[in-house]
Amino acid sequence: MSKWVLLACFALLIVSCKDVEKKEEKKDEKKQAIIGFSQLGSESSWRTCNSESIIKAAEEAGFQIIFDDAQQKQENQIKAIRSFIVYRVDIIIFSPIVETGWDTVLEEAREAQIPVIVVDRKLRIKDKSLIKGYIGQDSKEEGRKAARFLIEKYKDREEKLNILEITGTANSSSAKGRSEGFCEVLEAEDTEKKFSIIYSESGDFLRSKGREILAQIIAYNGGELKIGAKAIDIIFSHNDAMTLGILDSLDNYGIKAGKDVAIVSVDGEQKAINELMKGRLNCIVECNPKTGKELLKLVAKVLAGEEIEKETYIDEDIFTENDNFTLFESRGY
Ligand code: AHR
Repeated sequence: MSKWVLLACFALLIVSCKDVEKKEEKKDEKKQAIIGFSQLGSESSWRTCNSESIIKAAEEAGFQIIFDDAQQKQENQIKAIRSFIVYRVDIIIFSPIVETGWDTVLEEAREAQIPVIVVDRKLRIKDKSLIKGYIGQDSKEEGRKAARFLIEKYKDREEKLNILEITGTANSSSAKGRSEGFCEVLEAEDTEKKFSIIYSESGDFLRSKGREILAQIIAYNGGELKIGAKAIDIIFSHNDAMTLGILDSLDNYGIKAGKDVAIVSVDGEQKAINELMKGRLNCIVECNPKTGKELLKLVAKVLAGEEIEKETYIDEDIFTENDNFTLFESRGY
C-alpha cells in the first residue's frame, strides 16, 4: 500500500471518529429533557425547602428545569402552565394552590401531549387521567396524628377542652385534609366528647396571619385567650409558619405557650422544632418537604412511557414533647 493510500485511510478514520463524537453529543442533547415546574409560592421555609429539593434533584438527574413561583395566585399558576405548553417542555410538575379550577389548563397540556405530575397538594378534576399521578404528603393522616396526640395527652383529664383551629389556605387540599383527618379521629375516638373546636379561621399558611388572628382574638377578649366565655385550651395550627406567628402574639400578651395553652403544629421546620424543645409547642406532625428525589424517579418513569402509581405518599414522622430531643437531627430548613 502506498503512503498516500495509508494517509487517506487515516484521514477517513479521523473524520468518522468526529462523526461518532458529534452523534454522541446530539444524543446527550436529546437526553436533557425539560421540566416545567410551577410552584405555588414561597410562603414558608417549608415551601422554600420543597422548591430547592425538587430543583436540586432535577439538576442532579440531568434535567433542565424551568421554575416559576406563582406567588400564591392560581391565575399565575395557570399562566405558568400555559407558558410551559408554548415552550414545549417534556413534562410539567406543579403544586396546586387550591383543589379546583384546573380542568381546562390540564386539557390543554394533554392536547399538547405533555404529561403532568402533581406534587405536595392534591387537586379535584373530573377526568382523573389528566394527570399521571400525585406525590407528596398524606394531609388527612397528618390531621389524624394531631388528634391522636391530643387524645393521648389528655386521656386522664375529665374537664372539657376547647380547641382553636387555625387552618391553611381555604380550598387547599392540605388544609382540607388536615381538618378532615383531625375531626374524623375526634369524632371516632373522643368517646366522652371531651374536645370541641370552638372556633376555626384560615391563616392562609402565613406567619403574619397567624400572628394577626391571635392578636385580634386576644385583644377582643380583654387580653385573655378565649372566645366569648370559653377559654381556649388547645390551638391546632395547620403549619409552622402560622404557629410561629401565633407564638409572637401569645408572647406579646404574656400567655405561656405550651403551658397555658397546648399547641399542635404541622411541618417540622427547625424554628418550630426549637420551640418544641423549649416546651413552647407540644407536638409537631411532620409534613415532609423533601420530595425531590422520589418525584424525579416518577418523572423518569413517565418520560420512559411507564405507568406510575396514582398516589405516592412520602414518609412522615411526628415530634412531641415526650421525645428524646438529643436524638433530633438538624432539619436543614
Ligand atoms: O401544602 C403544604 C403546606 O403548605 C405546608 O404545611 C405549609 O408550610 C405550606 O405552606
